[in-house]
Amino acid sequence: MLSWSVLLLCITLIAVVYIWSKPSVLPLPPGPKKIPFLGSLLEMPRTLEWQTFAQWSKDYGSDVIHARVAGVDIIILNSIQAAHDLLDRRSALYSGRPRFVMAAELMGWGWQFSAMIGERWRERRRLFQQRFPSSNNAVHQPRLTEFIRVLQLQLLESPDDFMNIVRHTFGGVILALAYGIKIEPTNDPLVKMAEYAIHTLTIAAVPGAFLVDVLPILKYIPEWFPGASFKRKARVWREVALNFRDMPFAISEQEIEQGTSQPSFTTLCLDDLDPTRDVEYQRQIIKDTAGMFFSAGSDNIVSVVQSFILAMLCNPDIQAKAQLELDELLQHQRLAVYDDEPFLPYLSAVVKEVFRWQNPTPIGIPHRLDQDDTYKGFHLPAGSMIIGNQWAMLHDENDYPEPFKFNPERFLKNGHLDPTVKDPLSVAFGFGRRFCPGSHIAVQAVWLAAASILSTFNIYKAVDNEGNAIEPSLEYHSALIYRPLPFKCNIKPRSTEAVFLVHSAFDQSSG
Ligand code: HEM
Repeated sequence: MLSWSVLLLCITLIAVVYIWSKPSVLPLPPGPKKIPFLGSLLEMPRTLEWQTFAQWSKDYGSDVIHARVAGVDIIILNSIQAAHDLLDRRSALYSGRPRFVMAAELMGWGWQFSAMIGERWRERRRLFQQRFPSSNNAVHQPRLTEFIRVLQLQLLESPDDFMNIVRHTFGGVILALAYGIKIEPTNDPLVKMAEYAIHTLTIAAVPGAFLVDVLPILKYIPEWFPGASFKRKARVWREVALNFRDMPFAISEQEIEQGTSQPSFTTLCLDDLDPTRDVEYQRQIIKDTAGMFFSAGSDNIVSVVQSFILAMLCNPDIQAKAQLELDELLQHQRLAVYDDEPFLPYLSAVVKEVFRWQNPTPIGIPHRLDQDDTYKGFHLPAGSMIIGNQWAMLHDENDYPEPFKFNPERFLKNGHLDPTVKDPLSVAFGFGRRFCPGSHIAVQAVWLAAASILSTFNIYKAVDNEGNAIEPSLEYHSALIYRPLPFKCNIKPRSTEAVFLVHSAFDQSSG
Protein backbone atom coordinates (compact mmCIF):
# COMPACT_ATOMS: atom_id res chain seq x y z
CA MET A 1 0.00 0.00 0.00
CA LEU A 2 2.78 2.36 1.05
CA SER A 3 4.75 1.69 -2.12
CA TRP A 4 1.67 2.58 -4.28
CA SER A 5 1.28 5.92 -2.46
CA VAL A 6 4.99 6.69 -2.94
CA LEU A 7 4.72 5.81 -6.63
CA LEU A 8 1.65 8.04 -7.03
CA LEU A 9 3.41 10.89 -5.25
CA CYS A 10 6.47 10.49 -7.49
CA ILE A 11 4.34 10.51 -10.66
CA THR A 12 2.52 13.66 -9.47
CA LEU A 13 5.83 15.39 -8.68
CA ILE A 14 7.30 14.44 -12.04
CA ALA A 15 4.17 15.73 -13.81
CA VAL A 16 4.33 19.07 -11.91
CA VAL A 17 8.05 19.50 -12.64
CA TYR A 18 7.44 18.63 -16.32
CA ILE A 19 4.62 21.15 -16.67
CA TRP A 20 6.70 23.85 -14.97
CA SER A 21 9.83 23.23 -17.00
CA LYS A 22 8.10 22.49 -20.33
CA PRO A 23 8.89 25.12 -22.96
CA SER A 24 6.16 27.72 -23.31
CA VAL A 25 3.26 26.69 -25.50
CA LEU A 26 2.90 30.28 -26.63
CA PRO A 27 4.48 31.15 -29.97
CA LEU A 28 7.40 33.52 -30.42
CA PRO A 29 6.57 36.83 -32.11
CA PRO A 30 6.74 36.70 -35.92
CA GLY A 31 9.88 37.70 -37.75
CA PRO A 32 12.35 36.96 -40.49
CA LYS A 33 13.19 33.46 -41.67
CA LYS A 34 15.48 31.36 -39.46
CA ILE A 35 17.78 28.60 -40.65
CA PRO A 36 19.55 26.01 -38.48
CA PHE A 37 22.53 27.31 -36.49
CA LEU A 38 22.68 30.78 -38.13
CA GLY A 39 19.07 31.67 -37.34
CA SER A 40 18.17 34.94 -39.09
CA LEU A 41 21.80 36.04 -39.53
CA LEU A 42 21.53 36.21 -43.31
CA GLU A 43 18.40 38.39 -43.07
CA MET A 44 19.94 40.89 -40.65
CA PRO A 45 20.54 44.32 -42.23
CA ARG A 46 24.10 45.66 -42.25
CA THR A 47 23.19 49.35 -42.42
CA LEU A 48 20.17 51.50 -41.47
CA GLU A 49 18.98 48.49 -39.44
CA TRP A 50 16.14 50.49 -37.91
CA GLN A 51 14.47 50.91 -41.31
CA THR A 52 14.53 47.17 -42.07
CA PHE A 53 13.31 46.43 -38.53
CA ALA A 54 10.38 48.85 -39.05
CA GLN A 55 9.60 47.26 -42.41
CA TRP A 56 9.40 43.82 -40.73
CA SER A 57 6.53 45.12 -38.61
CA LYS A 58 4.63 45.97 -41.80
CA ASP A 59 5.57 42.65 -43.45
CA TYR A 60 4.63 40.48 -40.46
CA GLY A 61 1.75 42.58 -39.09
CA SER A 62 3.15 42.91 -35.57
CA ASP A 63 4.83 45.69 -33.60
CA VAL A 64 6.86 43.00 -31.76
CA ILE A 65 9.30 41.07 -33.93
CA HIS A 66 11.48 38.07 -33.19
CA ALA A 67 14.80 37.28 -34.86
CA ARG A 68 17.48 34.83 -33.76
CA VAL A 69 21.14 35.11 -34.52
CA ALA A 70 23.34 32.14 -33.70
CA GLY A 71 21.20 31.12 -30.76
CA VAL A 72 20.59 34.62 -29.36
CA ASP A 73 16.94 35.68 -29.37
CA ILE A 74 16.36 39.26 -30.46
CA ILE A 75 13.07 40.99 -29.77
CA ILE A 76 12.48 44.23 -31.67
CA LEU A 77 9.87 46.66 -30.35
CA ASN A 78 8.62 48.91 -33.12
CA SER A 79 5.87 50.87 -31.32
CA ILE A 80 5.82 53.32 -28.43
CA GLN A 81 3.07 51.23 -26.83
CA ALA A 82 5.15 48.03 -26.79
CA ALA A 83 8.24 49.88 -25.50
CA HIS A 84 6.15 51.52 -22.80
CA ASP A 85 4.41 48.25 -21.78
CA LEU A 86 7.65 46.26 -21.56
CA LEU A 87 10.67 48.52 -21.06
CA ASP A 88 8.93 51.11 -18.86
CA ARG A 89 6.19 49.21 -17.03
CA ARG A 90 8.10 45.94 -16.60
CA SER A 91 11.40 47.72 -16.17
CA ALA A 92 12.50 45.37 -13.36
CA LEU A 93 12.69 42.53 -15.91
CA TYR A 94 13.92 44.46 -18.91
CA SER A 95 16.86 46.55 -17.65
CA GLY A 96 19.73 44.15 -18.18
CA ARG A 97 22.25 44.59 -20.96
CA PRO A 98 23.35 41.99 -23.47
CA ARG A 99 27.05 41.13 -23.68
CA PHE A 100 28.94 43.57 -25.89
CA VAL A 101 31.82 41.21 -26.64
CA MET A 102 33.65 43.34 -29.20
CA ALA A 103 33.18 46.75 -27.54
CA ALA A 104 33.27 45.89 -23.84
CA GLU A 105 35.33 42.69 -23.58
CA LEU A 106 37.83 42.97 -26.45
CA MET A 107 38.12 46.73 -26.95
CA GLY A 108 38.12 47.59 -23.25
CA TRP A 109 34.98 49.76 -23.04
CA GLY A 110 33.65 47.50 -20.26
CA TRP A 111 34.28 50.29 -17.73
CA GLN A 112 31.24 52.13 -19.12
CA PHE A 113 28.25 51.72 -16.84
CA SER A 114 25.91 51.71 -19.83
CA ALA A 115 27.25 48.17 -20.41
CA MET A 116 27.11 47.08 -16.74
CA ILE A 117 24.45 45.33 -14.70
CA GLY A 118 23.88 44.76 -10.99
CA GLU A 119 25.59 46.63 -8.17
CA ARG A 120 28.48 47.96 -10.31
CA TRP A 121 25.94 49.68 -12.58
CA ARG A 122 23.83 50.99 -9.66
CA GLU A 123 26.83 52.51 -7.83
CA ARG A 124 27.93 54.46 -10.90
CA ARG A 125 24.48 55.55 -12.05
CA ARG A 126 23.64 56.71 -8.51
CA LEU A 127 26.79 58.82 -8.36
CA PHE A 128 26.00 60.38 -11.76
CA GLN A 129 22.45 61.26 -10.72
CA GLN A 130 23.55 62.68 -7.35
CA ARG A 131 25.87 65.15 -9.06
CA PHE A 132 23.64 65.98 -12.05
CA PRO A 133 20.09 65.71 -10.74
CA SER A 134 17.48 66.68 -13.31
CA SER A 135 15.97 68.98 -10.66
CA ASN A 136 19.05 71.23 -10.49
CA ASN A 137 19.98 73.23 -13.57
CA ALA A 138 22.45 75.37 -11.62
CA VAL A 139 25.03 72.59 -11.94
CA HIS A 140 25.37 72.68 -15.72
CA GLN A 141 23.59 75.75 -17.11
CA PRO A 142 26.23 78.43 -16.47
CA ARG A 143 28.88 76.32 -18.28
CA LEU A 144 26.48 75.55 -21.11
CA THR A 145 25.67 79.22 -21.61
CA GLU A 146 29.35 80.20 -21.46
CA PHE A 147 30.27 77.70 -24.21
CA ILE A 148 27.33 78.64 -26.42
CA ARG A 149 28.38 82.30 -26.25
CA VAL A 150 31.82 81.21 -27.55
CA LEU A 151 30.10 79.17 -30.27
CA GLN A 152 28.27 82.30 -31.45
CA LEU A 153 31.50 84.29 -31.56
CA GLN A 154 33.23 81.52 -33.52
CA LEU A 155 30.32 81.38 -35.99
CA LEU A 156 30.85 85.11 -36.60
CA GLU A 157 34.56 84.57 -37.22
CA SER A 158 34.59 81.28 -39.19
CA PRO A 159 31.05 80.46 -40.30
CA ASP A 160 32.17 77.87 -42.87
CA ASP A 161 33.71 75.81 -40.09
CA PHE A 162 30.36 75.38 -38.31
CA MET A 163 30.49 71.54 -38.23
CA ASN A 164 33.77 71.62 -36.27
CA ILE A 165 32.68 74.55 -34.12
CA VAL A 166 29.60 72.63 -32.98
CA ARG A 167 31.69 69.54 -32.22
CA HIS A 168 34.29 71.53 -30.36
CA THR A 169 31.70 73.43 -28.31
CA PHE A 170 29.93 70.39 -26.91
CA GLY A 171 33.13 68.38 -26.49
CA GLY A 172 34.33 71.36 -24.42
CA VAL A 173 31.12 71.59 -22.37
CA ILE A 174 31.29 67.94 -21.43
CA LEU A 175 35.02 68.09 -20.58
CA ALA A 176 34.36 71.12 -18.39
CA LEU A 177 31.41 69.50 -16.60
CA ALA A 178 33.07 66.11 -16.15
CA TYR A 179 36.64 67.17 -15.37
CA GLY A 180 36.83 70.97 -15.11
CA ILE A 181 39.39 70.94 -17.93
CA LYS A 182 39.64 74.04 -20.13
CA ILE A 183 40.13 73.26 -23.79
CA GLU A 184 42.04 75.06 -26.54
CA PRO A 185 39.84 77.40 -28.61
CA THR A 186 40.24 75.13 -31.66
CA ASN A 187 41.72 71.69 -32.42
CA ASP A 188 41.94 70.70 -28.78
CA PRO A 189 43.87 67.38 -28.51
CA LEU A 190 41.45 65.87 -25.96
CA VAL A 191 38.43 66.71 -28.12
CA LYS A 192 40.22 65.19 -31.15
CA MET A 193 41.15 62.07 -29.16
CA ALA A 194 37.54 61.75 -27.98
CA GLU A 195 36.24 62.11 -31.51
CA TYR A 196 38.35 59.18 -32.70
CA ALA A 197 37.61 57.04 -29.64
CA ILE A 198 33.85 57.50 -29.92
CA HIS A 199 34.07 56.81 -33.63
CA THR A 200 35.60 53.37 -32.89
CA LEU A 201 33.03 52.72 -30.17
CA THR A 202 30.02 53.59 -32.31
CA ILE A 203 31.24 51.26 -35.03
CA ALA A 204 31.79 48.38 -32.61
CA ALA A 205 28.68 48.80 -30.48
CA VAL A 206 26.14 48.37 -33.30
CA PRO A 207 24.45 45.04 -32.50
CA GLY A 208 25.73 42.39 -34.91
CA ALA A 209 28.38 44.63 -36.54
CA PHE A 210 31.00 42.04 -35.50
CA LEU A 211 30.32 38.32 -35.64
CA VAL A 212 32.05 37.86 -32.29
CA ASP A 213 29.07 39.56 -30.64
CA VAL A 214 26.79 36.76 -31.76
CA LEU A 215 29.40 33.99 -31.46
CA PRO A 216 31.34 35.00 -28.31
CA ILE A 217 33.53 31.88 -28.57
CA LEU A 218 35.31 33.60 -31.48
CA LYS A 219 36.95 35.94 -29.00
CA TYR A 220 39.41 33.16 -28.17
CA ILE A 221 40.77 32.68 -31.70
CA PRO A 222 44.32 34.01 -32.16
CA GLU A 223 44.99 37.21 -34.08
CA TRP A 224 46.87 35.45 -36.88
CA PHE A 225 43.92 33.18 -37.66
CA PRO A 226 42.32 33.83 -41.07
CA GLY A 227 39.29 36.10 -40.60
CA ALA A 228 40.46 37.34 -37.18
CA SER A 229 41.07 40.93 -38.29
CA PHE A 230 38.53 42.00 -35.63
CA LYS A 231 41.05 40.89 -32.97
CA ARG A 232 43.80 43.08 -34.43
CA LYS A 233 41.37 46.01 -34.63
CA ALA A 234 40.28 45.40 -31.03
CA ARG A 235 43.91 45.45 -29.82
CA VAL A 236 44.63 48.82 -31.44
CA TRP A 237 41.31 50.30 -30.37
CA ARG A 238 41.70 49.02 -26.80
CA GLU A 239 44.44 51.51 -26.09
CA VAL A 240 42.16 54.29 -27.35
CA ALA A 241 39.33 53.19 -25.02
CA LEU A 242 41.56 53.18 -21.95
CA ASN A 243 43.24 56.49 -22.80
CA PHE A 244 39.82 57.97 -23.25
CA ARG A 245 38.95 57.24 -19.63
CA ASP A 246 42.37 57.70 -18.01
CA MET A 247 43.87 60.76 -19.70
CA PRO A 248 41.34 63.46 -18.79
CA PHE A 249 41.03 62.03 -15.27
CA ALA A 250 44.81 62.20 -14.80
CA ILE A 251 44.84 65.83 -16.04
CA SER A 252 42.03 66.70 -13.65
CA GLU A 253 43.89 65.14 -10.69
CA GLN A 254 47.06 66.98 -11.71
CA GLU A 255 45.19 70.29 -11.81
CA ILE A 256 43.74 69.60 -8.34
CA GLU A 257 47.28 69.04 -7.05
CA GLN A 258 48.51 72.25 -8.68
CA GLY A 259 45.50 74.16 -7.31
CA THR A 260 44.40 75.22 -10.81
CA SER A 261 41.31 73.02 -11.14
CA GLN A 262 37.80 74.28 -11.90
CA PRO A 263 34.85 72.74 -10.00
CA SER A 264 33.51 69.72 -11.89
CA PHE A 265 32.04 66.26 -11.37
CA THR A 266 35.52 64.83 -10.76
CA THR A 267 36.79 67.52 -8.41
CA LEU A 268 33.60 67.52 -6.32
CA CYS A 269 33.52 63.72 -6.05
CA LEU A 270 37.22 63.51 -5.15
CA ASP A 271 36.70 66.20 -2.49
CA ASP A 272 34.00 64.01 -0.95
CA LEU A 273 36.01 60.76 -0.80
CA ASP A 274 35.30 58.91 2.40
CA PRO A 275 38.71 58.11 4.00
CA THR A 276 37.15 55.42 6.21
CA ARG A 277 36.25 53.31 3.14
CA ASP A 278 38.38 51.80 0.37
CA VAL A 279 39.64 54.99 -1.32
CA GLU A 280 40.99 53.30 -4.46
CA TYR A 281 37.61 51.60 -5.01
CA GLN A 282 35.79 54.93 -4.69
CA ARG A 283 38.32 56.60 -7.02
CA GLN A 284 37.72 53.89 -9.63
CA ILE A 285 33.96 54.52 -9.56
CA ILE A 286 34.51 58.26 -9.98
CA LYS A 287 36.92 57.68 -12.86
CA ASP A 288 34.52 55.31 -14.68
CA THR A 289 31.56 57.60 -14.16
CA ALA A 290 33.39 60.71 -15.38
CA GLY A 291 34.50 58.71 -18.44
CA MET A 292 30.91 57.63 -19.03
CA PHE A 293 29.79 61.24 -18.85
CA PHE A 294 32.47 62.17 -21.38
CA SER A 295 31.63 59.34 -23.80
CA ALA A 296 27.83 59.54 -23.62
CA GLY A 297 27.56 63.30 -23.55
CA SER A 298 28.99 65.08 -26.50
CA ASP A 299 28.46 63.19 -29.77
CA ASN A 300 24.70 62.89 -29.44
CA ILE A 301 24.29 66.60 -28.76
CA VAL A 302 26.62 67.42 -31.67
CA SER A 303 24.50 65.30 -34.00
CA VAL A 304 21.24 66.98 -32.92
CA VAL A 305 22.61 70.53 -33.21
CA GLN A 306 24.01 69.76 -36.67
CA SER A 307 20.64 68.27 -37.68
CA PHE A 308 18.97 71.43 -36.36
CA ILE A 309 21.15 73.57 -38.65
CA LEU A 310 20.31 71.25 -41.54
CA ALA A 311 16.59 71.48 -40.80
CA MET A 312 16.73 75.29 -40.75
CA LEU A 313 18.70 75.29 -44.00
CA CYS A 314 16.05 73.17 -45.73
CA ASN A 315 13.06 75.02 -44.22
CA PRO A 316 13.58 78.79 -44.43
CA ASP A 317 9.91 79.50 -43.60
CA ILE A 318 10.21 77.58 -40.31
CA GLN A 319 13.48 79.37 -39.56
CA ALA A 320 11.79 82.75 -40.11
CA LYS A 321 8.84 81.82 -37.90
CA ALA A 322 11.08 80.77 -35.02
CA GLN A 323 13.08 83.99 -35.41
CA LEU A 324 9.92 86.08 -35.30
CA GLU A 325 8.92 84.44 -32.01
CA LEU A 326 12.40 85.06 -30.58
CA ASP A 327 12.42 88.71 -31.77
CA GLU A 328 9.04 89.41 -30.18
CA LEU A 329 10.33 88.21 -26.82
CA LEU A 330 13.91 89.48 -26.92
CA GLN A 331 13.31 92.71 -28.89
CA HIS A 332 16.90 92.48 -30.24
CA GLN A 333 18.02 93.68 -26.79
CA ARG A 334 19.46 90.49 -25.32
CA LEU A 335 20.19 86.83 -26.02
CA ALA A 336 17.90 84.01 -24.93
CA VAL A 337 18.50 82.10 -21.70
CA TYR A 338 16.95 78.76 -20.80
CA ASP A 339 14.43 80.49 -18.47
CA ASP A 340 12.79 81.88 -21.64
CA GLU A 341 11.77 78.38 -22.71
CA PRO A 342 8.11 78.55 -21.52
CA PHE A 343 7.60 81.72 -23.59
CA LEU A 344 8.94 80.26 -26.84
CA PRO A 345 6.64 77.32 -27.69
CA TYR A 346 7.37 77.45 -31.43
CA LEU A 347 11.09 77.10 -30.80
CA SER A 348 10.48 74.23 -28.37
CA ALA A 349 8.35 72.55 -31.05
CA VAL A 350 11.25 72.97 -33.52
CA VAL A 351 13.61 71.30 -31.03
CA LYS A 352 11.20 68.39 -30.43
CA GLU A 353 10.85 67.98 -34.20
CA VAL A 354 14.64 67.80 -34.67
CA PHE A 355 14.85 65.01 -32.07
CA ARG A 356 12.01 63.21 -33.88
CA TRP A 357 13.12 63.83 -37.47
CA GLN A 358 16.74 62.72 -37.13
CA ASN A 359 17.04 61.01 -33.77
CA PRO A 360 20.76 60.44 -33.12
CA THR A 361 20.27 57.02 -31.48
CA PRO A 362 17.81 55.25 -33.80
CA ILE A 363 17.93 51.92 -31.94
CA GLY A 364 19.11 53.27 -28.57
CA ILE A 365 21.19 50.82 -26.54
CA PRO A 366 19.78 47.26 -26.43
CA HIS A 367 18.37 45.95 -23.15
CA ARG A 368 18.24 42.32 -21.98
CA LEU A 369 15.24 40.42 -20.65
CA ASP A 370 16.17 38.63 -17.42
CA GLN A 371 13.24 36.15 -17.17
CA ASP A 372 10.77 34.49 -19.52
CA ASP A 373 7.83 36.78 -20.17
CA THR A 374 4.64 36.88 -22.23
CA TYR A 375 3.19 39.79 -24.19
CA LYS A 376 0.25 40.02 -26.59
CA GLY A 377 0.02 36.22 -26.60
CA PHE A 378 3.70 35.76 -27.48
CA HIS A 379 6.45 34.05 -25.53
CA LEU A 380 9.50 36.27 -24.92
CA PRO A 381 12.44 34.09 -23.82
CA ALA A 382 14.75 34.97 -20.92
CA GLY A 383 18.11 36.29 -22.11
CA SER A 384 16.64 37.94 -25.24
CA MET A 385 18.28 41.09 -26.53
CA ILE A 386 15.56 43.75 -26.60
CA ILE A 387 15.86 46.49 -29.20
CA GLY A 388 13.62 49.54 -28.76
CA ASN A 389 13.47 50.82 -32.33
CA GLN A 390 13.24 54.54 -31.55
CA TRP A 391 13.39 55.44 -35.23
CA ALA A 392 10.29 53.32 -36.00
CA MET A 393 8.44 54.85 -33.05
CA LEU A 394 9.34 58.42 -34.05
CA HIS A 395 8.33 57.78 -37.68
CA ASP A 396 5.04 56.06 -36.91
CA GLU A 397 2.49 57.75 -39.15
CA ASN A 398 -0.30 57.11 -36.65
CA ASP A 399 1.40 59.36 -34.13
CA TYR A 400 3.21 61.66 -36.55
CA PRO A 401 1.39 62.04 -39.91
CA GLU A 402 3.78 62.55 -42.85
CA PRO A 403 6.65 61.40 -40.63
CA PHE A 404 9.44 62.29 -43.05
CA LYS A 405 8.36 65.93 -43.28
CA PHE A 406 10.02 68.40 -40.90
CA ASN A 407 6.95 69.98 -39.34
CA PRO A 408 7.11 71.54 -35.83
CA GLU A 409 3.44 72.56 -36.13
CA ARG A 410 2.49 68.97 -35.32
CA PHE A 411 3.32 69.72 -31.66
CA LEU A 412 1.27 72.94 -31.45
CA LYS A 413 -2.36 73.79 -30.87
CA ASN A 414 -3.60 77.39 -30.61
CA GLY A 415 -0.04 78.63 -30.21
CA HIS A 416 0.78 76.29 -27.31
CA LEU A 417 2.48 72.91 -27.10
CA ASP A 418 -0.22 70.27 -27.51
CA PRO A 419 -0.01 67.74 -24.65
CA THR A 420 -2.02 65.17 -26.63
CA VAL A 421 0.78 64.68 -29.17
CA LYS A 422 3.32 62.06 -28.10
CA ASP A 423 6.50 63.78 -26.96
CA PRO A 424 9.54 62.53 -28.93
CA LEU A 425 11.71 63.39 -25.93
CA SER A 426 10.10 60.54 -24.00
CA VAL A 427 11.33 58.12 -26.69
CA ALA A 428 14.62 59.61 -27.92
CA PHE A 429 16.39 59.02 -24.59
CA GLY A 430 15.50 55.38 -24.11
CA PHE A 431 13.35 53.60 -21.56
CA GLY A 432 12.73 52.44 -18.02
CA ARG A 433 15.54 52.27 -15.49
CA ARG A 434 18.07 52.81 -18.25
CA PHE A 435 16.51 56.09 -19.42
CA CYS A 436 19.33 58.51 -20.29
CA PRO A 437 20.38 60.27 -17.07
CA GLY A 438 21.82 63.20 -19.07
CA SER A 439 18.63 63.95 -21.03
CA HIS A 440 17.94 67.23 -19.20
CA ILE A 441 21.45 68.50 -20.00
CA ALA A 442 21.10 67.42 -23.64
CA VAL A 443 17.69 69.02 -24.21
CA GLN A 444 18.78 72.29 -22.62
CA ALA A 445 22.01 72.31 -24.65
CA VAL A 446 20.16 71.84 -27.93
CA TRP A 447 17.43 74.33 -27.04
CA LEU A 448 19.89 77.04 -25.99
CA ALA A 449 22.05 76.49 -29.06
CA ALA A 450 18.96 76.73 -31.30
CA ALA A 451 17.69 79.91 -29.58
CA SER A 452 21.13 81.56 -29.63
CA ILE A 453 21.90 80.71 -33.26
CA LEU A 454 18.48 81.73 -34.60
CA SER A 455 18.29 85.01 -32.71
CA THR A 456 21.62 86.20 -34.13
CA PHE A 457 22.20 84.38 -37.44
CA ASN A 458 20.42 83.52 -40.67
CA ILE A 459 21.17 80.14 -42.20
CA TYR A 460 21.13 80.20 -46.00
CA LYS A 461 22.03 77.73 -48.71
CA ALA A 462 25.64 78.07 -49.85
CA VAL A 463 26.17 78.94 -53.52
CA ASP A 464 28.58 77.37 -56.00
CA ASN A 465 30.96 79.25 -58.34
CA GLU A 466 28.15 79.85 -60.83
CA GLY A 467 25.97 81.35 -58.12
CA ASN A 468 23.59 78.37 -57.91
CA ALA A 469 22.26 77.36 -54.50
CA ILE A 470 23.83 74.11 -53.26
CA GLU A 471 21.13 71.67 -52.17
CA PRO A 472 22.15 69.72 -49.04
CA SER A 473 22.31 65.98 -49.69
CA LEU A 474 20.73 65.06 -46.32
CA GLU A 475 23.11 62.11 -46.08
CA TYR A 476 23.86 60.62 -42.68
CA HIS A 477 26.56 58.37 -41.27
CA SER A 478 24.90 55.13 -40.17
CA ALA A 479 26.33 53.90 -36.86
CA LEU A 480 25.22 53.69 -33.24
CA ILE A 481 25.15 57.50 -33.29
CA TYR A 482 23.47 58.69 -36.46
CA ARG A 483 24.89 62.02 -37.60
CA PRO A 484 24.77 64.19 -40.70
CA LEU A 485 27.65 63.95 -43.13
CA PRO A 486 29.39 67.31 -43.63
CA PHE A 487 27.25 69.75 -45.60
CA LYS A 488 27.72 73.33 -46.72
CA CYS A 489 25.71 76.34 -45.65
CA ASN A 490 26.05 80.08 -45.38
CA ILE A 491 25.67 81.36 -41.81
CA LYS A 492 25.46 85.16 -41.63
CA PRO A 493 24.74 87.52 -38.72
CA ARG A 494 21.21 88.93 -38.96
CA SER A 495 22.17 92.55 -38.23
CA THR A 496 24.81 94.82 -36.70
CA GLU A 497 22.83 94.68 -33.43
CA ALA A 498 23.19 90.88 -33.53
CA VAL A 499 26.98 91.20 -33.95
CA PHE A 500 27.08 93.61 -31.02
CA LEU A 501 25.00 91.27 -28.84
CA VAL A 502 27.27 88.31 -29.62
CA HIS A 503 30.41 90.29 -28.72
CA SER A 504 29.01 91.79 -25.55
CA ALA A 505 27.52 88.48 -24.33
CA PHE A 506 30.89 86.82 -24.93
CA ASP A 507 32.72 89.58 -23.01
CA GLN A 508 30.28 89.23 -20.11
CA SER A 509 30.47 85.43 -19.93
CA SER A 510 34.27 85.31 -20.19
CA GLY A 511 35.00 88.23 -17.95
C1 HEM B 1 21.03 64.33 -27.66
C2 HEM B 1 21.62 63.81 -26.66
C3 HEM B 1 21.43 62.43 -26.09
C4 HEM B 1 20.69 61.38 -26.54
C5 HEM B 1 19.78 61.32 -27.76
C6 HEM B 1 20.89 60.28 -25.61
C7 HEM B 1 20.28 59.05 -25.72
C8 HEM B 1 20.52 57.99 -24.86
C9 HEM B 1 19.94 56.69 -25.02
C10 HEM B 1 18.96 56.27 -26.10
C11 HEM B 1 20.42 55.91 -24.02
C12 HEM B 1 20.08 54.43 -23.76
C13 HEM B 1 18.86 54.35 -22.88
C14 HEM B 1 18.36 52.92 -22.74
O1 HEM B 1 19.16 52.00 -22.56
O2 HEM B 1 17.13 52.71 -22.83
C15 HEM B 1 21.31 56.73 -23.23
C16 HEM B 1 22.01 56.26 -22.13
C17 HEM B 1 22.86 57.06 -21.42
N1 HEM B 1 23.11 58.40 -21.59
FE1 HEM B 1 22.36 59.59 -23.03
N2 HEM B 1 21.74 60.69 -24.62
C18 HEM B 1 22.10 61.99 -24.88
C19 HEM B 1 22.93 62.78 -24.13
C20 HEM B 1 23.52 62.41 -22.97
C21 HEM B 1 24.31 63.28 -22.13
C22 HEM B 1 24.54 64.77 -22.38
C23 HEM B 1 24.77 62.51 -21.11
C24 HEM B 1 25.63 62.91 -19.96
C25 HEM B 1 25.83 64.10 -19.57
C26 HEM B 1 24.26 61.17 -21.30
C27 HEM B 1 24.51 60.09 -20.47
C28 HEM B 1 24.01 58.81 -20.65
C29 HEM B 1 24.36 57.68 -19.80
C30 HEM B 1 25.31 57.71 -18.62
C31 HEM B 1 23.65 56.58 -20.29
C32 HEM B 1 23.68 55.14 -19.76
C33 HEM B 1 22.51 54.89 -18.83
C34 HEM B 1 22.48 53.47 -18.25
O3 HEM B 1 22.84 52.52 -18.93
O4 HEM B 1 22.08 53.36 -17.09
N3 HEM B 1 23.51 61.14 -22.44
N4 HEM B 1 21.34 57.99 -23.75
